[in-house]
Amino acid sequence: MVRPTLPTSHLVMASALLLVSAVQPGQTQQQALDQGLHSLFVASGKLFFGTAIDTNNFDDTAYQTIATNKNEFGLYVPENSQKWGPIEPTQGQFRFANPDSVEAQAQNNDQIFRCHALAWHSQLPSFIANGTWTRPLLIAALQSHITIVMTHYKSRCYSWDVVNEALNDNGTLRDSVFLRVLGTDYLPLSFAAAAAADPSAKLYYNDFNLETIPAKADGAVRLVKLIQAAGVRIDGIGFQAHLTVGGTPSQAKLAATLNRFVALGLEVTLSELDIAHNKLPASARAVEQQAKDYVTAVGACLSVPKCVGITVWQFTDKYSWIPSTFPGKGDACLFTANFTKKPAYTAVARCIDSGGCASGDDVAI
Ligand SMILES: *[C@@H]1O[C@H](CO)[C@@H](O)[C@H](O)[C@H]1NC(C)=O
Ligand SMILES: *[C@@H]1O[C@H](CO)[C@@H](O)[C@H](O)[C@H]1NC(C)=O
Ligand SMILES: *[C@@H]1O[C@H](CO)[C@@H](O)[C@H](O)[C@H]1NC(C)=O
Repeated sequence: MVRPTLPTSHLVMASALLLVSAVQPGQTQQQALDQGLHSLFVASGKLFFGTAIDTNNFDDTAYQTIATNKNEFGLYVPENSQKWGPIEPTQGQFRFANPDSVEAQAQNNDQIFRCHALAWHSQLPSFIANGTWTRPLLIAALQSHITIVMTHYKSRCYSWDVVNEALNDNGTLRDSVFLRVLGTDYLPLSFAAAAAADPSAKLYYNDFNLETIPAKADGAVRLVKLIQAAGVRIDGIGFQAHLTVGGTPSQAKLAATLNRFVALGLEVTLSELDIAHNKLPASARAVEQQAKDYVTAVGACLSVPKCVGITVWQFTDKYSWIPSTFPGKGDACLFTANFTKKPAYTAVARCIDSGGCASGDDVAI
């Protein structure tokens, strides 16, 4: 356990926080911290602490021991298998087997199922990305995809990421086949098809860098207002929260950004949380900073009542998407590649257990 030297005032604050710890009679502090992140988060009034997972991880027993512990992770989202390319590779031919297996494992373990993602410019099948589309034909293909996939999982997804990553970092709408052929209409069209297909699923817009780039958050506010002005339902914003060590905004700033969307009548979630080191191997100081940054992110969600929960984008460095996408970066998860808990894990458990994470800097790790 890394324990930085803290000024006395901070130590007083840390021990004051421990007084409100959810330690049960006969339970030590360590046992309280070992009860699992989902259990701790639920005790704090949140719906879930979850993880991305997919079928290619299922034959790893060490991984599965943690993934199937519902006290640790109370929600699954399929990392890849529900995306348009994998689930409808050929027009009208659907492959539900993999995401069905993820859902079955969630059901077996009494875990919530979050669903991801319907209209997205990336990981598209060739027939969509490289098709020659007229407006009516693309509307039909989009509506049909959303309707068939959502109907397959009807009433069984807590939420759907209906539109994913539609914005550039400067807040303008990103170029895609959908924007080129349908203009901004593809946004309300997608949400309207989703609302009709499954009235019980929360309908989300999901994107990255909303946490760190105000112009992009401005763009997301415009996007929400555009959908609402069309009289179409949107329920939530997924802040992907793919953050970097040392590049995580303060808890107050992050909470303020989440609250911009709460003010529009929406719930929010950190939907794909991981915090990557920019340089590997990470120094001891960077490992400590990562723990503080995780506490900052989790604390921001705790401080916003309409932040319903957090999902990490894999819980172990063994299966993180980051090294292959951003070579040289990584070690972004709460567990090492060999499944030991990092200081970030312990710091997050401690901050949830203490009933709040004042800010990353105030929590002993
Ligand atoms: C679309 O076509 C281009 C050029 O042939 C190719 O590089 C790309 O992979 C195709 N996209 C998809 C999603 O198949
Ligand atoms: C916003 O970013 C996109 C993508 O990088 C770029 O094509 C576009 O020109 C930018 N627009 C403005 C107004 O800066
Ligand atoms: C697990 O990995 C860490 C570094 O990631 C290493 O220090 C430790 O020795 C490993 N433990 C085992 C049991 O392999």
